Amino acid sequence: MKNTIPQTLKITKASESKIGQVDFENLDFGKIFTDHMFVCDYANGKWQTPEIIPYGPLTMDPSARVFHYGQAVFEGMKAYKDDQGDTFLFRPDENFKRINKSAERLAIPEFPEDYFFEGLHTLLKLDNDWIKSGFGNSLYIRPFVIATQASVSASEADEYKFMIICSPAQSYYSGDVSVLVAEKFSRSASGGFGYAKAAGNYAGQFYPTNLAKKEGYQQIIWTDSNAHEYMEEAGTMNVFFRVNDTLLTAPTSDRILDGITRKSLIDIAKKEGINIDVRPVKVSEIIAASKNGSLKEIFGAGTAAVISPIKSFGYKGAHYELEKQENSYASHFKKALMDIQYNKAEDSFGWRQKV
Ligand code: COI
Repeated sequence: MKNTIPQTLKITKASESKIGQVDFENLDFGKIFTDHMFVCDYANGKWQTPEIIPYGPLTMDPSARVFHYGQAVFEGMKAYKDDQGDTFLFRPDENFKRINKSAERLAIPEFPEDYFFEGLHTLLKLDNDWIKSGFGNSLYIRPFVIATQASVSASEADEYKFMIICSPAQSYYSGDVSVLVAEKFSRSASGGFGYAKAAGNYAGQFYPTNLAKKEGYQQIIWTDSNAHEYMEEAGTMNVFFRVNDTLLTAPTSDRILDGITRKSLIDIAKKEGINIDVRPVKVSEIIAASKNGSLKEIFGAGTAAVISPIKSFGYKGAHYELEKQENSYASHFKKALMDIQYNKAEDSFGWRQKV
C-alpha cells in the first residue's frame, strides 16, 4: 500500500554512539538497543512523515489504548553481515506482509511498503557498526505498531505509532531446550488471532510457561484448544518432529503463526528430497514414536531461536528424553539456513536482500 502523499524520511542522528559500552561477546537477548530508531505516527487518517531519531524513551498518555486493550502487533527479523562486511536481510518481504496481516486482525491501519523498506534500510545503514559478522551474530530487528490514542473507550484507536528498534543478538536459547506439552492451557483458539504476531498472544503464555519452568521446562508446546490432541507450536518458535527419516510439522491455521523460518525449512527439505509431511501431528503418535524409538528429533524453528534442538519433553507427568543424533536434521537445517543468511551459499530461492 502506498500513502497518497509521498513524504521524505526525516533523520536526526544521535550526538554520541553507545556502541563502545557494549560487550558483543556476551549479549543477553533483547536487552541492548542500537543508537537509532524509526518512528512513524498515524493521525488524521494517514501515516505521517516517518522519522529516524536517537533511540530513547517515549512519552505517552496513560490512557493510550495499547496500555488497556493490548492493541499492538510486532515482527521479528534479523540482519546478517558476511565476511566481506556486506549486510543482508532474510525474506523481509514476508515480515512486511505479516505485520500488515497481523495489523488487519487487530483493526490497525496497514503500513505503507515504501515507508517500511526505506526506513529499515536507512536505519540499518546508520547503525551498521552494530551488526557484527561471524556465524551466530546478527542484529535482531523489532518492527511494531501500538495504539497511542488517549482514550479508555473499548474500541480501536485512530492514532498509532509504527516503530522499528534493533538489538544486537547472539543465540536466544543457550543449549538444548526441554518443553512441556500443554494439557490444560491454550495459546490460541479457532477464530482467534493465534496466527497474528499480536502482543497478547505472548502475554498469555507467560503464566503457564512460568508453571512449566517450575517443573524444569523452558517452553510449552501448545496443543489445539479443543481437545489438546494435536501438537501446534511452541510460542517463540514452530516445531518439527523427525520420526525415522520423515519430518512432521503442523499446517498453519488461524491458531498457528506462519513462521518464516518454518516455511523456509519446508522449502529446503523439499529441495533436498527430505521427506516432509505437513499435517496435523497427534500428541499420541509422538509419545508412541518416542516409546518405540522412531522419534529421532524434535526442534523449534523461529527468527530469534533459529533452529533450537529439543532434548526432552514432558507430558501428563511423564518425561521423555531424546537421544543425541549423529548428523542431526536440526544441525543440517541450521547450517543450510545460516549459509544462505550469511551469504556463504548460493541463494537459489532468492531469499537474501542486500542492504
Ligand atoms: C521471533 O522469533 O522473532 C519471535 O517473535 C520470538 C520472540 C517472541 C522472541
